[in-house]
Amino acid sequence: MDSGIQQLKKWVEESNNIVFFGGAGVSTESGIPDFRSVDGLYSQKWRYPPETILSRSFFDRDPEEYYRFHREKLVIENVKPNSAHIRLAQLEREGKLNAVVTQNIDGLHQAAGSKNVLELHGSILRAYCSKCRKIYPAELINHGNGVPRCGCGGVIRPDIVLYEEPLDESVLTAAIDCIRKADVLIVGGTSLNVYPAAGLINYYKGNKLALVNLSETPFDSYADLVIHEKIGQVFSQL
Ligand code: APR
Repeated sequence: MDSGIQQLKKWVEESNNIVFFGGAGVSTESGIPDFRSVDGLYSQKWRYPPETILSRSFFDRDPEEYYRFHREKLVIENVKPNSAHIRLAQLEREGKLNAVVTQNIDGLHQAAGSKNVLELHGSILRAYCSKCRKIYPAELINHGNGVPRCGCGGVIRPDIVLYEEPLDESVLTAAIDCIRKADVLIVGGTSLNVYPAAGLINYYKGNKLALVNLSETPFDSYADLVIHEKIGQVFSQL
């Protein structure tokens, strides 16, 4: 076993206060493309750059095009949790992992059985009316046609944080609190490019910060342990 994985395994065995902070790279082994890898969503050609389509001003201006992108690119059929999601849920059941803090909107951590999941960017498995905030089944946004509308006339939207929108204060506060108190912080499958999410790492006060990411990140030199391997394969060895 790779020495880095051996070290991470030891930290996990010795700790009952682990927090995991992850991104799109945690779901690529489940078949969901990430955003910034060469084959990621942001390098695919669309009429507008995907980061523009996933913004609040674009959603308000052209909901028709937003929903075309949403149903074609954000909704992937029959995806299943991979060994990273599964092992994290197991570590929570064993009383070793306190929380999963995720930037992902795919619900795969909960599907794997994780209970305490802090979704910094929300989830496409929840929907509500942007005008009266009435809750709607996610079916309407993920599998309908055209722009779904509420009885009040408002546009029904996914419960995700679009660019130009603030994160949910209560989720952010909870994430900061558990990271601040963590003994071991495992960060994985994220390019750590997007703030305020990426900035959460700065709240960690311990000396067991592990970064498990295929490519280099701006925080590599800051981590106590860096493993540039597939996170599903790494977690299947923990
Ligand atoms: N194992 C480990 N790392 C992986 C794997 C894998 N199997 N697959 C991809 N990666 C790494 C990539 O090398 C990349 O550095 O995961 C990272 C994914 O980075 P991004 O695509 O930038 O995704 P993420 O960091 O989650 O993006 C943050 O940006 O657009 C917004 O809201 C969106 O939540 C997203 C945020």
